[in-house]
Amino acid sequence: MTHSFKPRAVVAGLAAITATAALGIGSITMAGAQAPATTSSVVLGVGANASQRVVSWYTSANTAQSVQVAPTAALINGEFPAGATTFTATIAANTVNGGFNGHAVLSGLQENTAYSYRVGSEGSWSATYSFKTQTFKGEFDFLFYGDPQIGSSGDTTKDGLGWEDTLKVSTAANPNAELLVSGGDQVETANTESQWDAFLKSDTLRQYPWAATIGNHDVGGKAYDQHFWTPNTDRSADYYSGSTSTQSGGDYFYVYKDVLFIHLNSNAYSAAKDSAHVKYVTDTVNAHGSEAKYTVLVFHHAIYSPAAHANDSDNKGRRQDFPTAFSNLGVDLVLAGHDHSYSRSYALKNGQKTNAAEQPGAASVVTGPGGVIYVTGNSASGSKYYDLTKPVAGEFGPDPLNPNSHYANSVENQEHVRTYVKVQVRNDKLVVENVRSGTCAAPNAAVERGNVSWCGPDSGATAAQPVGSVVDKVTIHAAEANTDGQVGGSVPATLSLTLGTPPTFGAFAPGVEKEYTATTDATVISTAGDAALTVSDPGHLTNGAFSLPEPLSVAFSKFAWTAPVSNDKVNVSFKQLIKASDALRTGAYTKSLTFTLSTTNP
Ligand SMILES: [Fe+2]
Repeated sequence: MTHSFKPRAVVAGLAAITATAALGIGSITMAGAQAPATTSSVVLGVGANASQRVVSWYTSANTAQSVQVAPTAALINGEFPAGATTFTATIAANTVNGGFNGHAVLSGLQENTAYSYRVGSEGSWSATYSFKTQTFKGEFDFLFYGDPQIGSSGDTTKDGLGWEDTLKVSTAANPNAELLVSGGDQVETANTESQWDAFLKSDTLRQYPWAATIGNHDVGGKAYDQHFWTPNTDRSADYYSGSTSTQSGGDYFYVYKDVLFIHLNSNAYSAAKDSAHVKYVTDTVNAHGSEAKYTVLVFHHAIYSPAAHANDSDNKGRRQDFPTAFSNLGVDLVLAGHDHSYSRSYALKNGQKTNAAEQPGAASVVTGPGGVIYVTGNSASGSKYYDLTKPVAGEFGPDPLNPNSHYANSVENQEHVRTYVKVQVRNDKLVVENVRSGTCAAPNAAVERGNVSWCGPDSGATAAQPVGSVVDKVTIHAAEANTDGQVGGSVPATLSLTLGTPPTFGAFAPGVEKEYTATTDATVISTAGDAALTVSDPGHLTNGAFSLPEPLSVAFSKFAWTAPVSNDKVNVSFKQLIKASDALRTGAYTKSLTFTLSTTNP
């Protein structure tokens, strides 16, 4: 015990001194003044960046505590070395359920290192846990889990077993995954500690950092905030659904390698609170977007959820309030839960498909500028499943390509088996998979308890697929291989070498209605499994400050390939309507266009 505590120990009174002496320790310490603090509910959390971790825990007393950390290689027979690093904890009184909570930020970690750690203080350390760091920049994998919601089946033990099993199965299959990302609803009832105990039982949550997200079942009290300390958290009232003194929440972010993650407390919703979230995302992307390649948003209430919550009024509000902002901000992926079923959206720009030709279940998608993929996580614990719902015309309506599915979604799935989502972050793509972590067999609480009547694909008509099998997999590419070209009106412009002869409409005759046409070709070479040709919004031809009243239109004879091609010629046709009353200015009307050939399955 440190020297500075001695005067306080003396002041603590004779009883303390007597007790210490009776134990024969021979020194007067705070530990002698009271029972050592016990610790529980230790959980490893995500830090502000890849070189940090956060450890949070519950403790019985407000004593001086810390997290002791050392490279595992430096431990001798399980003993921490004298030079182990100590991170002093912040201890705060719990506002519900008694006791205290502690946390410490572990900073300055080294790359590619296995660490061991324990929490508490001399004489009352927790068990020793471990985690590893990898490189601090570049590619990585993370796992995403929808609604464990422990206790929601009506059997906390069974729910906990399913959750433990999903954690085990998913990390065994992906031992190098670097983050476990929450879709919210850790527990059924916000302040029920027995549910938190079951949620936190697996040592996997002391080994891999948990990136918490608050769900509607976590928000009714302070236990969530007591269990999880999160970095860069804005606890303004706008990011709470109720009083900040009785509700958990806040919005937070971190930059983990190539991804800027932003977690929102979507329990705070209203037009005003949605716009506050948008401001948070905007400010965060503006301040930190350049530090990462991708932006991933995480919040509980899925916008394009395929099941029971598809047409909830708050969701309808979010579908108005969020998509255009997310597109404008260059968000790549939105991960959510709440609907206990899986969905993967088409590439959506401002809430609409970016490419009308994108097929349901496409294995490869080019999002293009403004394109966002929205994923809803199914139950990771098996505690509760919602069945897919029929799209409601006029609300979250049917997909013309697959009327059983909602218009925004490429894939919707519910089999009443546990799943998790794996995301591979790569230099040139994101790969998103929904993977089965269970079968119809136990642990599968909702099935075991008869809360649902069938199990397996096709509403139970098909036998359950094995653990580790893939429900859905998509490779997401941003647009690549851009080629700038120009199309001209009365004066021909220049196209790039990958395009054919520059098109020209010839001279526009004022005062005469006529549709002018021009064509060129594009030569496509692709060694990829598929490819897509797109063009930027043609807009209007301009001549200085003057633009033609009617828009330019561009069409391709072919814009999608499902196999490699060499020197495939595509006819590119341009149309420009000039009306009799259109005023024309002498000179050249031109427009720069960007043609994009995207290889989506290299
Ligand atoms: Fe839930």
